Amino acid sequence: MLSASVTVDPAFVVGPVRPRTFGSFVEHLGRCVYTGIHDPGHPTADEDGFRGDVLDLVRELGVTTVRYPGGNFVSGYRWEDGIGPVGERPRRLDLAWHSTEPNLVGVDEFVRWCARAGVEPMMAVNLGTRGVQEALDLLEYCNVPGGTRWSDERRKNGAEDPYRVKMWCLGNEMDGPWQIGHKTAHEYGRLATETARAMRMVDPGVELVVCGSSGSQMPTFGEWEHVVLTEAYEHVDHVSAHAYYWEEDGDLASFLASAVDMDHFVESVAATADAVRAAGKHSKRINISFDEWNVWYQKRAESRPPSGDDWPVAPVLLEDRYNVADAVVVGSLLISLLRHTDRVHAASLAQLVNVIAPIMTEPGGRVWKQTIFHPFALTARHARGEVLRVAVDAPVHETAKFGEVSAVDAVATHDAETGDVTLLAVNRSTTDPVALDVDLRGFPGLRVVEALTLANPDHTWAATADDDASVAPRPNASATVVDGRAVAQLPPVSWSVVRLARA
Ligand code: AHR
Repeated sequence: MLSASVTVDPAFVVGPVRPRTFGSFVEHLGRCVYTGIHDPGHPTADEDGFRGDVLDLVRELGVTTVRYPGGNFVSGYRWEDGIGPVGERPRRLDLAWHSTEPNLVGVDEFVRWCARAGVEPMMAVNLGTRGVQEALDLLEYCNVPGGTRWSDERRKNGAEDPYRVKMWCLGNEMDGPWQIGHKTAHEYGRLATETARAMRMVDPGVELVVCGSSGSQMPTFGEWEHVVLTEAYEHVDHVSAHAYYWEEDGDLASFLASAVDMDHFVESVAATADAVRAAGKHSKRINISFDEWNVWYQKRAESRPPSGDDWPVAPVLLEDRYNVADAVVVGSLLISLLRHTDRVHAASLAQLVNVIAPIMTEPGGRVWKQTIFHPFALTARHARGEVLRVAVDAPVHETAKFGEVSAVDAVATHDAETGDVTLLAVNRSTTDPVALDVDLRGFPGLRVVEALTLANPDHTWAATADDDASVAPRPNASATVVDGRAVAQLPPVSWSVVRLARA
């Protein structure tokens, strides 16, 4: 048994827990939309064809914002194809995923789905095959009350009131050579700036996300943010970050330490944004929208799009099955996002349903939870108030990818109104349990109200439609408070939440 201690103090405030940290993402990709959120033949489908059982799980997951409609898809998308009578909408080639887009769901349906799910829509505009004008048209359609070409079209389509969508992404992954309409940093910086300037003329209240890097392994990482922000700084609010390169490739120790890499990514982007701020003598700060993140096994067959003359509607794509170790990593990546709440102002788990997703569906049939559902739902539910940086003193071990890492990673939140404290912790040891000792010096009178741990002797256990519950987070009976210190045992390869409240 290893020993570790964590000190939690109310003075070590990083910033508020931001609801937008618990965003997700719905792309027209594979079965995310069609047979995912939308399945008109399903017994629980509503008048728009949206599955009620999926909506129930989206609400249980605690998702706050949903980014739409892509992803790579958006860079070839004509949003006008998705409005008006459904039967008259065109079918189009989706070049990003070599599929056929039937346009049964478009912006109006999506906004109605968001209202039912209780989430904030976050729209992306196409800066791949399109430009300033089409972004303005979509913004006019969504946010202008009426009396103009596109706002009246929205009203004709049944939405009298404007949608007032606040968050807008200026394209998607424009640094990636795979992106339709891929650009150099200079080209994109100019286009993003002019799009942002014009969008603010239509609606000064929008919050704009400029594309950062598609990963810190990109050859242009750092330089891309520097060039784009030097151009666009005064016109945007956030810079995006995307990361998916965490997967278990036979090196479990490195995989469990993936949050070290996310920490590095966030800190590098923040440093670059601050360097541009200083050089440009800007006063505002640019923050990060980490609007695509997850574990993704990109080399698996499920991630290969169709080819040739095969352009299916809603093929099975990117349907990764997540195991217990994947869920521990997702929990630890959420710890990293919370730890950086001073700079990460929004984030989106990619994606929501079927495509690298916490929620899976059978067409016309069952809905079920993947292992990664649990750490997300529990963190979204119990992280409240302010994020506290904690001091961790734990044994370290060597990893091939990230060098020496601490066996324990943790973060805490403190709700000053209720006095409640939530501790989120992972044990990254592949072999040893950890006896955790938590110094609660600044919080007299706390007791454990609930402690849950996600672990399994076989960390490769993955949920299925037949069994998505036998390895869910379980009460951790070892968690208790003794003399102002909380103690708990953390099994190897585990993620835990410990909720403390005044007695
Ligand atoms: O989420 C899957 C894909 O990953 C998205 O379409 C793209 O933005 C990223 O490369």
